[in-house]
Amino acid sequence: MTDSNHGSVPVRYFCTAGNGMESFLVEEVKRKVAAQDVIHLQGKVIFSSSANINNIVNLKSAERLFLLLNHEAPIKLPAHINRAKASSLLQSYLTGDKNEVARVVMLWLSLQGALKDRSTNYKVQPSATVGGKRGDNDEQSLVIEDRYPGDSSRCKRQRLEYGNPDDTPMDQQDKLLPSVDSVTFRICCKCSGSLSRYFSTQDVSKVLGASLTTLLGWRVDLKNPHLEVNVNLTDDYCLQGIPLTKFPLANRNYVQTTGLRSTVAWAMASMAQIQPGSFVVDPMCGVGTILIEAAKEHNGAFFLGIDNDDEQLVKANENIVYAHLEDRMQVLKASSLVLPLHSASVDTVVCDLPFGRKFSTKIDAAKDLPPILYEMTRVLRVGGILVLLLSPQLSCLIKRLIAQEDVKSNSTDSQTEKQDCLSDGATCTKQLLSEGQNNGPPSAQETKYGLKRTHPLSSLRHEKTVRVSLGAIDGLMHKYVKLDPCFK
Ligand SMILES: C[S@@+](CC[C@H](N)C(=O)[O-])C[C@H]1O[C@@H](n2cnc3c(N)ncnc32)[C@H](O)[C@@H]1O
Repeated sequence: MTDSNHGSVPVRYFCTAGNGMESFLVEEVKRKVAAQDVIHLQGKVIFSSSANINNIVNLKSAERLFLLLNHEAPIKLPAHINRAKASSLLQSYLTGDKNEVARVVMLWLSLQGALKDRSTNYKVQPSATVGGKRGDNDEQSLVIEDRYPGDSSRCKRQRLEYGNPDDTPMDQQDKLLPSVDSVTFRICCKCSGSLSRYFSTQDVSKVLGASLTTLLGWRVDLKNPHLEVNVNLTDDYCLQGIPLTKFPLANRNYVQTTGLRSTVAWAMASMAQIQPGSFVVDPMCGVGTILIEAAKEHNGAFFLGIDNDDEQLVKANENIVYAHLEDRMQVLKASSLVLPLHSASVDTVVCDLPFGRKFSTKIDAAKDLPPILYEMTRVLRVGGILVLLLSPQLSCLIKRLIAQEDVKSNSTDSQTEKQDCLSDGATCTKQLLSEGQNNGPPSAQETKYGLKRTHPLSSLRHEKTVRVSLGAIDGLMHKYVKLDPCFK
């Protein structure tokens, strides 16, 4: 790769990812930063890359990014080992080779210097100290608790108060970095499985902290350290790393009001395989998160968000302006029960349906889901892609609905219709296309006619389902392709 950090020597990183997001991250690191030696663990992906650090920090499916210090097999303590012996084993296991630790820290320091967006790195600014300002976006407080991580009232994100890093001359900024032997640090530890029966996280932190102090002359600083050493001990592996950015990669600097978790929104857009020139619609767009993630990734496509809630639309509009997407993205007030769009006029539909605590009052799933799904299918062109985010309950409901429609379209009546279609050079396709060529939105009668005659849901072919964690609950991302109902 030409834009390497350190000649052609690949750097070993790992990223954390929400449960279910790992396969997206594996695909993304391979595609965007030519990752090699990729290891997929639960909630983490380890990889090597020679790509520029500024490309690595732009990964969209990752939560946090670390420089890998150590990845080992899990620690196995002999049965009936006493505590002192267990501590000493743990110490020799965790500390490793002094030169290797020093090499990784040197690399960490140089990557800090290379990061362009200095509001996200660990560089100490004159107006603030490392770890000194702990806002609601602080990585330490990142616990995936909700599908809408901004906060419970989805209020505006607090602006970061680190001053303008560009105000500080480059050479002055570099002087703010510590030398490798004057590093201050703190340990952040997670210990699970059988080891947690011997050690608390505090025990592990103490053991490793003492070792690093003795070995490298570093000083512990719990409040304002230069860097943090993360340790994760499980029954499957032992992983140590140093976070490269102060804030999670999942915090988007182009989003003002956060909605659906950005990584999940990005994954939905990625599943939709948006092509240049595509027209993409989110019929229940909220503050527009999915479309914004999609638009940032696909420069040549066009995006329309629809919602029936004025407040959401105001925030969506603000988000569009904040992300500089006015030329390719718009929002519209309408109901997803009657979309003001021609049939077969949309290439891609993406939608995060209301479910869970926040939106439970807005939709009566059993009653509203069928017409909403009919409308999404109607506006989608043949060959178009539909990606939905659903609760486990809505996921079952939709599977049942589509199966029922399949049965209907296979019934005697529909068989005859299909025969008609086939013998009559795709009457059915013609009907759908001509609806799409009308000027103005479809009439209720037209939609009804289309539905009755073609059972549109039976034209949806299920491609895949991915389960992702939304914090307190899981969501299921369903992907469908719309087939020509006559030839299904
Ligand atoms: C789960 S939220 C979408 C959140 C969105 N993905 C985001 O990140 O902000 C569902 C949205 O559907 C909207 N909604 C509910 N019923 C609707 C309807 N019948 N027509 C259009 N929008 C509707 C709600 O106002 C809400 O904004």
